[in-house]
Amino acid sequence: EKGGFEHFMLKEIHEQPDSLRNAIRGRLDFNLGSSVLSGMGTSARDLAEIQRVVLLGCGTSLHAGLVGEYAFEDLADIHAEVQQAAEFRYRNPLISRSDLVVAISQSGETADTLAAVREANQKGAFVMGLCNVVGSTIARETGRGVYLHAGPEISVASTKAFTCQVAVLLMMALKLGRGRRFSRDEGMRLAQEIDAIPQLVERTIEQNDRIAALAERYAASEHAFFIGRGYLFPVALEGALKLKEISYIHAEGYHAAELKHGPIALLEEGTPIIALANDIPGKDKTLGNVEECRARGARILGVVTEGDKEAAEFMDDVIEVPACHPLVSTIPSAVALQLFAYHVARIRACEIDQPRNLAKSVTVE
Ligand code: M6R
Repeated sequence: EKGGFEHFMLKEIHEQPDSLRNAIRGRLDFNLGSSVLSGMGTSARDLAEIQRVVLLGCGTSLHAGLVGEYAFEDLADIHAEVQQAAEFRYRNPLISRSDLVVAISQSGETADTLAAVREANQKGAFVMGLCNVVGSTIARETGRGVYLHAGPEISVASTKAFTCQVAVLLMMALKLGRGRRFSRDEGMRLAQEIDAIPQLVERTIEQNDRIAALAERYAASEHAFFIGRGYLFPVALEGALKLKEISYIHAEGYHAAELKHGPIALLEEGTPIIALANDIPGKDKTLGNVEECRARGARILGVVTEGDKEAAEFMDDVIEVPACHPLVSTIPSAVALQLFAYHVARIRACEIDQPRNLAKSVTVE
């Protein structure tokens, strides 16, 4: 059932090119430079009336929402914000009929996300589900939305759901963007980039053995910091979550600019810093932060764009991801960090598919 892999997590990481193909198939319109997401179920006029997008989720789904926030703002010029679902449900959220609320949940059963959906429905928002499990409670209660088609995810640590969530959010933002400021040409270019995601992920997975070897150098650590900026900030959070949940290493994801506001005090000789330094806006600033960490003795593992020698020089170790659109680059980068977390946990002989204290689906609040 694990298809020859040692763990479901590794199997699911390797399934991502196919999962992504299934999530993307038939949903891109290359002529119009847009996407076809019939599940969004709104007329062009309704979509034009959306003034704000509120993305809700927990854990990894929350991190996908954070990437979505950038996508909606940058591609569609729509104010977007992400709220942790439990926070949303208990904070008297200000919601109106012109809000599009997107509930993101792999399982479609997470208690807090479900309660947030009910709250948003009650307040009259336009609520949509972004679920993987067909017929799940959140999918049913939202009534409309987009399925991931990622296939069953067994491992407690979410992998293929995350990358498919991001891909679908990019397609949603593309659709909304085309009704607004995003030109047909820009749309066509982005549609091509989205279409190429499965190959980008394939190329990243080809580095599995290299990443496994690198992981040996980090597996004995007690702490690790993941840093990134802009689109890669959510990837830093996701990388840290993955590492902590399966390897039990204390890992924190930080905005690279936040380091000097406190966490830098924790750096010692050899403290691992995993720096997301792909070639996207803000890279130079992140490299500056990497330099500050090196000066304090940290060991730097950089995720950089293929062939970017300048960035590689700042690092002790490097994982390369293919060059692509900055928003799209969140996906191969996340895959690289999934493999890193997996191998660190394997070396530490952890219960990878069933980490202590965790359940696949958190159905209690
Ligand atoms: O099924 P959901 O997407 O609603 O689950 C949300 C979180 O419980 C989930 O992503 C959790 O954080 C994972 N274990 C992370 O790998």
